[in-house]
Amino acid sequence: MAQIIDGKAISSQIKEELKTKVGALKAQGVEITLAVILVGEDPASQVYVRNKKKACEYIGIRSLSYELEETATERQLLELIEQLNRREDVNGILVQLPLPKHMEEQKVIRAIDPKKDVDGFHPQSVGALSIGLPGFVSCTPAGVIQLLKRSAIPIEGKRCVVVGRSNIVGKPMALLMLRENATVTIAHSKTADLPSLTRQADILIAAVGKPKMITAEYIKEGAVVIDVGIHRDAANKLCGDVDFASVEPLCSAITPVPGGVGPMTIAMLMYNCVESVKIQEK
Ligand code: GUN
Repeated sequence: MAQIIDGKAISSQIKEELKTKVGALKAQGVEITLAVILVGEDPASQVYVRNKKKACEYIGIRSLSYELEETATERQLLELIEQLNRREDVNGILVQLPLPKHMEEQKVIRAIDPKKDVDGFHPQSVGALSIGLPGFVSCTPAGVIQLLKRSAIPIEGKRCVVVGRSNIVGKPMALLMLRENATVTIAHSKTADLPSLTRQADILIAAVGKPKMITAEYIKEGAVVIDVGIHRDAANKLCGDVDFASVEPLCSAITPVPGGVGPMTIAMLMYNCVESVKIQEK
């Protein structure tokens, strides 16, 4: 029987730790503020933003909410970001993605002051991660590291295969595993004979975006399997990139969907908001 890695419990533990820290900072007169910007009415984005604001409230972080119409111009959004960059009482700025098609995502991300980039998406944050300098780390991959560490799963010296090379998950995930001294391979949609590669993995991280693609034939017996995907299957049930039913009997530990990696993203966003105080002191 595989160990089921409980992301809900681990994210709650992190949030409790942060709540205590934020309380201590408040006692010293330090208040943390996160500005959350949502453009348009994408229902999934609305849910994410609501949950981020709820987490802030729980932990004791002040959240400011900016909702722009779908038809807002890129210039309007950039001006809002510039205003928030200048405000000393704003520690973190988060622009919920995806943005409407008439806006250039990379340009918007670059407009955020790297010292307030709590999503860790700014090229400066990504560059800092790649050369081992301090900076914000993308929340979902940072959450995966916490899941492994807090489940006492060793990373150093292990063979890790990351399937997926997105800027938000795959690439920073590989860099973080490298920082933890794993031997890392990044696989993607053009990788030849993917199952024979993933069968070498002690730790397999699936961030492909294809429901239940990773089946038993991709798994080495005893591997640790981390599933970053979230989809709805034909029966409208939540599922991941991993075919849990066929993979679970083979591995030593696995994250479920839901309740694995998912809850970690917001916990790590809260962590980054608390870290922002230190980063801004420098
Ligand atoms: N859209 C999907 N995931 C994310 C995330 O982690 N941050 C932001 N800003 N937008 C997202």
